[in-house]
Amino acid sequence: MKEKILIVEDDPAMRLGMSHFLSACGYLVKAIEDGHEAKFVIDSESFDIAIIDLKLPGIDGLQLLKHIKSRLAQTGVIIITAFADVKTAVQAMKEGAFDYIAKPFSHEELQIVIERFLKFRSLEREVKHLSEIVKKSEEFEGIIGRTPVIREIIDKIEAIAQTDVPVLIQGESGTGKELVADAIQRLSLRKDNVYIKINCAAIPETLFESELFGYEKGAFTGANETKKGKFELANGGTVFFDEIGDMPLSLQAKLLRVIEDGIIYRLSGKDPIKVNVRLIYATSKNLKELVRLEKFRSDLYYRINVVPIELPPLRERLEDIPLLIEHFVKFFSVKYAKGDIKISPSAYEALLSYNYPGNIRELKHAIERGVLLSKDGIIELKNLPEEFSPVTKLQKNCLINKFGLKECVENFEKTLILKVLQDCDWKKTEAAKKLGISRKALWEKIKAYNIENGEGGI
Ligand SMILES: Nc1ncnc2c1ncn2[C@@H]1O[C@H](COP(=O)(O)OP(=O)(O)OP(=O)(O)O)[C@@H](O)[C@H]1O
Ligand SMILES: [Mg+2]
Repeated sequence: MKEKILIVEDDPAMRLGMSHFLSACGYLVKAIEDGHEAKFVIDSESFDIAIIDLKLPGIDGLQLLKHIKSRLAQTGVIIITAFADVKTAVQAMKEGAFDYIAKPFSHEELQIVIERFLKFRSLEREVKHLSEIVKKSEEFEGIIGRTPVIREIIDKIEAIAQTDVPVLIQGESGTGKELVADAIQRLSLRKDNVYIKINCAAIPETLFESELFGYEKGAFTGANETKKGKFELANGGTVFFDEIGDMPLSLQAKLLRVIEDGIIYRLSGKDPIKVNVRLIYATSKNLKELVRLEKFRSDLYYRINVVPIELPPLRERLEDIPLLIEHFVKFFSVKYAKGDIKISPSAYEALLSYNYPGNIRELKHAIERGVLLSKDGIIELKNLPEEFSPVTKLQKNCLINKFGLKECVENFEKTLILKVLQDCDWKKTEAAKKLGISRKALWEKIKAYNIENGEGGI
């Protein structure tokens, strides 16, 4: 698009000269001799650049400049000044002019100033665009989300990361507990020290104690040499107890002692070993409930629950789903070198309306699969896992007696027809064949159920 330039200059030779030259350079030029008329024009038209003579009949250049800046702040104003009037020109720059140019000047000089302004403007726009991206960036240490509850969690992480207080992260499976634990560790003062993760659900009870505390040579059959436990190995660093709710009761008492005294004993060891570790815990179980059921020690619960972080299930932060979809689509299309990937409306609708029992992990895997199976740069509904199909969703609703029999059958029929039509790219003969009905019967169903191309399903 051609840039629009306004020239306000009372000297006819100069005005015409500049006007011809700039038109020849490819700009759209409007040249005016009078300040009042210029004001009038500015009120009804916008310009990329205004070249204004300081000395004008009627209204002076400075006044005109102020008027332009109040109306069209983005317009680059270049002031033309007599050599003797440089002081006023400087004043003009203070008022927001981009630059000034002193008479006499060549057209080439004028062009250089214009080009400099256009370059400046494009850089300014780029900076603005980038800073908007940064501002809008909904990512913090790999944690994507803009819902208030996620913002609060991020604030909390920032507030406690550099302290040594214990953190208890709770949330359903796949809500990002490990992601949060990792973020805290990375932001902590211990970030360069050892970081050990212990999955309490994965270690057999018999091995737990020796894993945590280590053992002396001969402590038990097979203990051929002294071995350090995780606590000792993590000294100076951080230990992440994942699935703390699965820690055996017998061990809970021992953990409590370590927390209270900062001392461990290896199995069969006599010497106390001082350890300094920061502890982060996570669980997908309801610890309070476990305390009530006496499966988790209440004294330990209060010890570890100093800074609780509760990660909400994805179905309770629906606004974050589009953001996560966008993020994972980008991530996996880069990972699998798939280029620019789009999501079809029905697949998008399915992704938005699913209830995600497996939370973000499930969404992430669904997108990964979608990206891998996508063809021609589009993720279709059929590229997503089966659970996302509207048929399955409907079946679930029917099975929990959300609908009566008639409604279930009708809904099922409608959804099935819709799905087959989508699979067949709305080719009705092919869809009718797949459904085992005549084309006429299909038409009637489409009409009866009001099925339209582009429908996302129920
Ligand atoms: N807010 C988020 N933004 C981006 N990715 C996320 C977010 N939350 C979780 N994820 C991703 O989802 C996956 C599951 O997260 P994570 O392993 O932290 O969950 P978890 O709560 O520890 O699950 P589990 O209880 O099953 O161990 C990971 O790949 C993680 O990167
Ligand atoms: Mg986990």
